[in-house]
Amino acid sequence: RILKMVKICCIGAGYVGGPTMAVIALKCPEIEVAVVDISVSRITAWNSDALPIYEPGLDEVVKKCRGKNLFFSTDVEKHVSEADIVFVSVNTPTKTQGLGAGKAADLTYWESAARMIADVSKSNKIVVEKSTVPVKTAEAIEKILNHNSKGIDFQILSNPEFLAEGTAIQDLFNPDRVLIGGRETPGGQKAIEALRDVYAHWVPVDRIICTNLWSAELSKLAANAFLAQRISSVNAMSALCEATGADVSQVSHAVGKDTRIGPKFLNSSVGFGGSCFQKDILNLVYICECNGLPEVANYWKQVIKINDYQKTRFVNRIVSSMFNTVSGKKIAILGFAFKKDTGDTRETPAIDVCKGLLGDKALLSIYDPQVNEEQIQRDLAMNKFDWDHPVHLQPMSPTSIKQVNVVWDAYAATKDAHGVCILTEWDEFKTLDYQRIYDNMRKPAFIFDGRNVVDEAKLRAIGFIVYSIGKPL
Ligand code: NAD
Ligand code: UGA
Repeated sequence: RILKMVKICCIGAGYVGGPTMAVIALKCPEIEVAVVDISVSRITAWNSDALPIYEPGLDEVVKKCRGKNLFFSTDVEKHVSEADIVFVSVNTPTKTQGLGAGKAADLTYWESAARMIADVSKSNKIVVEKSTVPVKTAEAIEKILNHNSKGIDFQILSNPEFLAEGTAIQDLFNPDRVLIGGRETPGGQKAIEALRDVYAHWVPVDRIICTNLWSAELSKLAANAFLAQRISSVNAMSALCEATGADVSQVSHAVGKDTRIGPKFLNSSVGFGGSCFQKDILNLVYICECNGLPEVANYWKQVIKINDYQKTRFVNRIVSSMFNTVSGKKIAILGFAFKKDTGDTRETPAIDVCKGLLGDKALLSIYDPQVNEEQIQRDLAMNKFDWDHPVHLQPMSPTSIKQVNVVWDAYAATKDAHGVCILTEWDEFKTLDYQRIYDNMRKPAFIFDGRNVVDEAKLRAIGFIVYSIGKPL
């Protein structure tokens, strides 16, 4: 090999940087991997027994490599300057101010990382975009690096990440594909090969797709838009199911049996959440608008609109079912994370549902097996789009919302409640003792299942009034 890679550095020790680098370290024992971050508390946690993110299987991978060929450090400049390949996996939130506010990606963190790389580099480097970025970002990064390079050769690659939270380790071990985009120059192709060699340690070569830079950047936005679009499609159908007596699970099953459509990602829900779908679609919409393509922009915008509609519809259903008022009524919220098997609450639909209910003066008692009170209070106090900006990584002022009570058990949450809302599909919610819950609730006892996890017939037999998304009432 012309480029013998020995050192990798990843800027950003978050949900993507941490797990991705841990798996590279595990699969490539001869490569030294350093994950760096400006957040001292995050790095401290990565070096402790309580990792900063909850992800099944992650502890084991980190334990096997940490201190051997996997290091977590705040010494960003040292590790960047020593590395042959620098991954950049910093946050790329939605802009909250200025041009493109509420839509465009905020590349402040990315740009400052790029400038720092240019400042500290003394040897040639491959710089890899791991963060999800607008198409053409590599061009901007190239400009920043090359205009400050002092003669050093920088090759930019786009290597977007497709892992999903909750299944990150599985996804990284066995990806559907790895995508690498680079310049169509000899230097660009050599860089692609070097990164391909890293993944080829464990990913079959026919799953490593190499493209030009812009295709790689855009494919990431496209993939997330297609995935989210499936959820909005099935959620749109769920409203029609409720109006007609069709059952959305039966419709999904029947539709998904068509091999051209496929069965995955057709679960109707209270709405999709997570740090990326909305952000990336807004970003795509903005790019379309900037390129003079309003029809295309409006097409994708609709995916977000249906998602917002689904959350609002759910809140309206709760309030209208409970005799048009939830004022002063205790409502149990089961699940706050944006999906099961994660403690992540970024853009979780639970925030919008809880805010909607609080707006109607409900008293909320919230339980999630992986989310604590401080985080829930902070999420409910935050403005839209602010969550991904560092100021909110600092502890907030202790003014907590008094209508919100966070407990560590589903039975405590539901005791004396008028209604129960299931907002995350945690497995444990399937096997709760619903007779016991019913006995301890006010009557009539309502259940609003935003994830279709409960057995409605069984619950109705107990005496509950049950509403499940997209199911006959
Ligand atoms: P994150 O917020 O968990 O992690 C980003 C980290 O970067 C933070 O810890 C922050 O402190 C650090 N950082 C910011 N600026 C820095 C700088 N200049 N120097 C050093 N560290 C810096 O974000 P994430 O969820 O890991 O996402 C990162 C990127 O990956 C985003 O672009 C996201 O769209 C994309 N992505 C995320 C997922 C996911 O499941 N979360 C999946 C695929 C792609
Ligand atoms: C998603 C993509 O699945 C990843 O491929 C991508 O890398 C990632 O975004 C990203 O770019 O950040 P993630 O958001 O972690 O991953 O989780 P998903 O499993 O996609 O779930 C997203 C949301 O959609 C969750 O709220 C989930 O409950 C909801 N969902 C998912 C549904 O409502 N119905 C479904 O059928 C599937």
